[in-house]
Amino acid sequence: LTASITLDPAFRVAPVNRRTFGSFVEHLGRCVYTGIYEPGHPAADADGFRTDVLDLARELGVTVVRYPGGNFVSGYRWEDGIGPRESRPTRLDLAWHSTETNEVGLDEFVRWSARAGVEPMMAVNLGTRGIQEALDLLEYANHRGGTTWSDRRIANGSPEPHGIRMWCLGNEMDGPWQIGHKTAREYGRLAAETARAMRLLQPGLELVACGSSHLGMPTFAEWEAAVLEEAYDAVDYISLHAYYEEKDGDLPSFLASAVDMDRFIDAVVAAADHVRSRVRSPKRMMLSFDEWNVWYQSGSPSRPPTGEDWPVAPPLLEDVYNVADAVVVGGLLISLLRHSDRVTAACQAQLVNVIAPIMTEPGGRAWRQTTFHPFSLTAHTAAGDVLRVEPAGPVQDTARFGPVPVVDAVATHDADAGTTAVFAVNRSTDQRVELDIDARALGAGRIARCLTVADDDPRAVNTPDDPDRVVPHPNPDATVDSARVRVVLPQVSWTVIELT
Ligand code: AHR
Repeated sequence: LTASITLDPAFRVAPVNRRTFGSFVEHLGRCVYTGIYEPGHPAADADGFRTDVLDLARELGVTVVRYPGGNFVSGYRWEDGIGPRESRPTRLDLAWHSTETNEVGLDEFVRWSARAGVEPMMAVNLGTRGIQEALDLLEYANHRGGTTWSDRRIANGSPEPHGIRMWCLGNEMDGPWQIGHKTAREYGRLAAETARAMRLLQPGLELVACGSSHLGMPTFAEWEAAVLEEAYDAVDYISLHAYYEEKDGDLPSFLASAVDMDRFIDAVVAAADHVRSRVRSPKRMMLSFDEWNVWYQSGSPSRPPTGEDWPVAPPLLEDVYNVADAVVVGGLLISLLRHSDRVTAACQAQLVNVIAPIMTEPGGRAWRQTTFHPFSLTAHTAAGDVLRVEPAGPVQDTARFGPVPVVDAVATHDADAGTTAVFAVNRSTDQRVELDIDARALGAGRIARCLTVADDDPRAVNTPDDPDRVVPHPNPDATVDSARVRVVLPQVSWTVIELT
């Protein structure tokens, strides 16, 4: 099979937003405890943070990290996680049927974020709580001092304000599973009033209203429209969440997950712009895709406990990812980059152990899942402007999405550095594709690097005993001649080509 794309700096979508490469740390399973934090671990620093995980988070290229949930936040009392550890209460976490020790809270997370070199992004509880608690939290986190809450932060060892800019107004409030689940009108009013009050305290915040929990929600689009009718002037973003999995052995549909993500983004843009017209606002609503990933929800071996069992940091949602999952993750990043004009923040859910690119053993090793690699390479390589590319080539039928292009791709171009990167997937399960890249408009004459994630066995995984079974390999079939690049994309593969 053959496919082709043309690169031209005139086809600029938007600058690459660094926040596209966000992640998520929730008090869920072993993401926090024995994930980012494990005092007593041989690699723990003086604050109990695992330096092996910090190193991997930096290598992953994560830029912004959402905290503390997720479903967890809708029952969370943020004050439980501040002050001397010995006086912090132990609570039931109803979202994940676990026991929360509160050893880690806001101040620890901000300290961890500084060490990881990431921007913290905070969620407030609009499930069991409301405007006042959000204001108290904001005052504690961001006010410079001289008030009850800001002085408590200073007394707790953080003299400087945390300066958290981006705040999520609740989490998945459309979901019946959510503690404090609301109708769109109820939530829209609460989000708007919370946002307005938070802005009185600090005008420059970036605020995210909850959109639908996924595209298949029965209230999808109506929810976005109603929430934004209430809150359009008060918020900057509407959120999107989406998880993908291979169902019933239908690999071709799974490999086309980014088609669904494209449609979801386009639909939310349409809903937001519809409200923009109705409220006659000059402001364009941005999208925060603050949960996305592969998640085997139907077959996950690690589901929440039930009954009298309320464990501390149990292994939950510890999905093990294979080569096809890595190709899908790479494809989802292509979709996010392609929409950089509207999707200006995104968080892969989650960072460690819980549906995560980084895994740890309690007291033991840390390793990279297959999905780590396309994320890390995209985060470190995408630079400058996103360029629109229109792959011409074969299409294949899928049961879930109809006919889809076999090759999907996006490019970025950094005019100052004189570099261009092409990110491409081959969704065919049995055929390689020769991709022809016309880079004459860029004058690109050299392939600096071409790496591919692929394997004879698309189900191959990384394990603690064989952590590098699946890694990117230099692609031997990449050539350039007079700014015409040719690269062979193996079946079920993800590739990055860097040109100078
Ligand atoms: O990321 C896991 C969970 O998925 C989050 O807690 C929730 O927001 C979503 O449903």
